Amino acid sequence: FAAVDVIRAKRDGAALSDEQIRWVVDAYTRGDVAEEQMAALAMAVFLRGMDARETATWTGAMIDSGSRLSLDVDRPTVDKHSTGGVGDKITLPLAPLVAACGAAVPQLSGRGLGHTGGTLDKLESIPGWRAALSVDEIVRQLNDVGAVVCAATEGLAPADRKLYALRDVTGTVESIPLIASSIMSKKIAEGSAGLVLDVKTGSGAFMKSVEEASELARTLVEIGTAHGVATTALLTDMNTPLGAAVGNAVEVAEAVEVLQGGGPADVVELTVALAREMLALAGLPVDPAEVLASGEAYETWCRMIAAQGGDPSAPLPRPAHVSVVEAPSDGYLSVVDAYAVGVAAWRLGAGRARKEDPVQHAAGVLCLAKPGERVAKGQPLLELHTNTPDAVPAAREALTDAIGIADSPPEKRDLILDRIT
Ligand code: URA
Repeated sequence: FAAVDVIRAKRDGAALSDEQIRWVVDAYTRGDVAEEQMAALAMAVFLRGMDARETATWTGAMIDSGSRLSLDVDRPTVDKHSTGGVGDKITLPLAPLVAACGAAVPQLSGRGLGHTGGTLDKLESIPGWRAALSVDEIVRQLNDVGAVVCAATEGLAPADRKLYALRDVTGTVESIPLIASSIMSKKIAEGSAGLVLDVKTGSGAFMKSVEEASELARTLVEIGTAHGVATTALLTDMNTPLGAAVGNAVEVAEAVEVLQGGGPADVVELTVALAREMLALAGLPVDPAEVLASGEAYETWCRMIAAQGGDPSAPLPRPAHVSVVEAPSDGYLSVVDAYAVGVAAWRLGAGRARKEDPVQHAAGVLCLAKPGERVAKGQPLLELHTNTPDAVPAAREALTDAIGIADSPPEKRDLILDRIT
């Protein structure tokens, strides 16, 4: 094949053959297709799309660019992936909960970029905790503890790493076949037998509309099924942050509250709902709500953190500077906008501007009231946490339209909008 012929074919709206797709992904990974050629092809895919067969083959080619983990584990393996949100710390209580119910959860995770937080950045606020594990360490911990949350190993879908960096700078991230194949190549290569997807929709999500999010969810489930991984998706609301905490250490603290039987109702609801889906795929007829209440999930959390060098009872980092955003008037809180709060937490130092930047573990936003609550003028609504008070004006600017107050209670929104199998 010649790269230019593959680009022309997609530019003109043709479906690519399986052979063309396998060749171009492999040649790009090896450096035989140039960055500018892949950039042109990614734009052609962005504009013309790919059908279900092309997307499944593209995903397979990205998996084959590296090695698949083979998980030699006694228990059924099942994982969860979220398409990314604000305050989305669900992995933290969910992995130990599902492990305490009898499954093995290999949760290979990423770092935050932009306004969405990264699970590894959150866990690194625990003193001593280590994200990088070898494949042997992952397998040993899955057998001993049942849950691992760690960084993706080097050999996992290298084509995606290269292509994602290219898409990031060529305006080709927001393409459903490219997003779906990117997510699923990493998740399938990880070797889990079952996968539950939490596809977010709303202001704080990649997919702003329910229609786009539903299409992404269907595409993800189709790819999983085509590759022999039992896959289910929940479509969930991301118009307002999940729980109260947005950031790093604050989200770990909230996850621990949930594991100890407390925590915000929405975080508990979504954790238990995703656990039910995962346990159904794993064939384990256990009630996760009972296991959460029993304290066994918290015990598993402590063992999971300790196994990676962390001290689960160590105090978490505290911010040097805290300021508050107050309610501008009396009424019912109608909006706490997820995107604005995510950007504010990012500006305060919880996220990074460039891939190589460090994050502040103590930075973030605490939402002191949820939509639907009655509030009084001057009541603190948001707490801004940072070690760099110079960042506060930019965070406040990001929050300009974040809060809405109405005379009557807003309509209650469902958190879980749909289930796709
Ligand atoms: N997350 C991914 O892993 N890949 C994408 O393309 C988008 C979100």
